[in-house]
This record gives sequence, C-alpha cells and structure tokens, in this order.
Amino acid sequence: MSFWKNKKVVVTGGAGFLGAPVVEILRERGAEVFVPRRRDYNLIHLEDGLRCFAEHRPEMVIHSAAFYGGIWINQMYPAKIYYENLMMATNVIEACRLSGVQKFVGVGTACSYPGYLTGELQEDDLWNGQAHETVRNYGAVKKMMQLQCWAYKKQYGFNGIHVILTNLYGPGDSYNPDRSHVVAALIRKFVEARQNRDAAVEVWGTGRPIREFLYINDAAEAIVRAAAMYDDVEPVNIGTGIGTSIRELAETIQEVSGFAGNLTWNTEKPDGQMKKILDVRKMKAALQWQPPTSLRTGLEKTIHWYVANKNAADARE
Ligand SMILES: NC(=O)c1ccc[n+]([C@@H]2O[C@H](COP(=O)([O-])OP(=O)(O)OC[C@H]3O[C@@H](n4cnc5c(N)ncnc54)[C@H](OP(=O)(O)O)[C@@H]3O)[C@@H](O)[C@H]2O)c1
Repeated sequence: MSFWKNKKVVVTGGAGFLGAPVVEILRERGAEVFVPRRRDYNLIHLEDGLRCFAEHRPEMVIHSAAFYGGIWINQMYPAKIYYENLMMATNVIEACRLSGVQKFVGVGTACSYPGYLTGELQEDDLWNGQAHETVRNYGAVKKMMQLQCWAYKKQYGFNGIHVILTNLYGPGDSYNPDRSHVVAALIRKFVEARQNRDAAVEVWGTGRPIREFLYINDAAEAIVRAAAMYDDVEPVNIGTGIGTSIRELAETIQEVSGFAGNLTWNTEKPDGQMKKILDVRKMKAALQWQPPTSLRTGLEKTIHWYVANKNAADARE
C-alpha cells in the first residue's frame, strides 16, 4: 500500500502482543515507525507524550499501550487499571492535538460494551450501559478514548478513530495464569497435561457459551487497514463475527495439542454470558476485508509457537 510509504507513525505499546505485529506490518509497507517504551516515555504523563512527538514528529499515532489483563488483574488492580489507562489515553490524545498529529487510532475493546448485552454487539450499543462487573473500570476507561475523539473533532477538527477489538489469541500472548485469557489458559493446560501424561483435563463450566476469537496477525492487519481507510469518529468493531462454543474451542485445542486423555467439564463453575460476538458488517464494508485465518489454523500456529517458547510465554507479565 503506497499510503504507508515513508509515513511517520508512532505505535504506543508497539512491543506488546498486539503492537508488535502492527509495527511489523507497517514497516513491511514502508512506514517509518517509532515505538516509545515505557522506561523511556511514561505516557501517563502529558510531557512524556509531548517529548516523544517532538522528537519523532509522527503524522499518525496508533495507541495500543494499556495496562490490563485477565480476571485476576482486574480484581487486584482496579484503581491502577482506571488511572493508568485513562491518563495515558487522555494525555496521548492531547499530546497528538498539541503536536499537530494528523490521525489518532485508539485501540478499544469489546469489554467496553454493556455487560447485560448478549448476542451480536453493534457499535451503536457502545454507550447504552455499564460494562460487565468483572471489567467495569477497564471497559469504561477504554471507551472514554472514543468520547475524547468525538469532543476533539467537534471543537478542534481532530481526526481520531476508535476500533473495538474482540478476544485476541496467538503467538506472543501471555500464558502467565495471572494474565492469560481463555485461549492461552486452555493451551497451557492441554500442553502441560500432554507433557505430564495426565489422565484428564478439567475445564470450567458447561462448554456451551459462545465466544469470538481473532488471530493476532489478523487483528494487526485490521488495525493497519482501519488506520489507512477509516476516518469516522464513530467506532468500528473488529472481529470474525463467528461464534465458537467453549466446548468446540477446548476440543480443538485438545486435538491440536495432542493430548490423548479425557476432557471433563466442571459444571459447578459459572458459564458467564451465553453468547458474545461482534457484529462486523461495518468492518467488512469499511475495510473491504475479513479475517482470513480460521480458528483451527490460528490454533495450530499458536500451539506450535507456544511449545517452542513455553518458558518465556509462561513468564510473560
Ligand atoms: N489481548 C486481547 O485479547 C485484547 C482484546 C481487546 C483489546 N485489546 C487491547 O489491545 C491493546 C494491546 O494489548 P496487548 O495485549 O498488546 O498488551 P500488552 O502486550 O500488555 O502490551 C501493552 C504495552 O503497553 C505499554 N505500556 C503500558 N503502560 C505504559 C505506559 N505508562 N507508558 C508507555 N507504554 C506503556 C507496554 O510497553 P513496554 O513494553 O515498554 O512496558 C506494553 O508493551 C490494549 O490497548 C488492549 O486494551 C487487547
């Protein structure tokens, strides 16, 4: 895409699980990318954002940096999640405005949708209620980015977009039980069970809830496309739009990881919401694209990577 040739882009969080493949794609397409690391630029502070943009003069900023994790992190650090993500986004957007950055891309999350909603989540529902109890503060502060872009567009003509990502999985994810999400947690369980020659693996719930899973490289491609092709201040969902039951997910991971024992379900444990997937009609129309990686192919690549990088992946914060 010639759009990216020599374009100067800052990707916050560009060394992270999602940021790294975004940076890789941008560089392949000819962009000049700078990744501010937290140790050099703590983006919670406005002056660090201003210094970063004065030094690197980006035309575009993709904001992927965040402090977040699984249920444990949300329970342990609700205030830190609130403060760091809100201050970071608020100040990065303000620094973009003050530095004359032409476009801001905010990476949002499906956790921002109202917790009572099930089924296919549509962009228009984003502000129609409180996020689920388990991610209330994380979900709420992430969507403040969209509101800030809306207000900045109205007052300053600022060009900011907000992409809402579904659950991601893939190589480079955290497999640390304190941080991991369902795909990483199941992969670790089944790979370890195979290595230990265990008789059975127990999974929580009935396996009936339906969720959506997006391969990390497809998520990165969608962000790069949205950055180039989408200019509406209203949000756009990014996902497959395909629902998979937790049972099908677990059985596929069991098969691909080569675990020959039994899979049992602990139905005493809660299921959570029965169905949650994104309506991706807007994404398909605006980006002229849909994620090409099937869940099975994505899981094969991920499990292959995990087995080869297990120690580092398990230790990743
Ligand atoms: N993973 C998912 O399933 C998922 C789903 C929906 C949305 N998202 C969103 O996707 C984005 C990326 O997630 P990820 O999984 O790639 O996260 P990650 O691997 O934890 O990476 C986050 C990055 O943020 C940077 N960061 C954190 N605090 C910072 C600060 N104060 N100043 C500067 N940089 C800071 C870190 O930089 P250093 O490495 O320099 O410390 C880190 O590389 C997040 O906004 C998240 O909310 C993720």
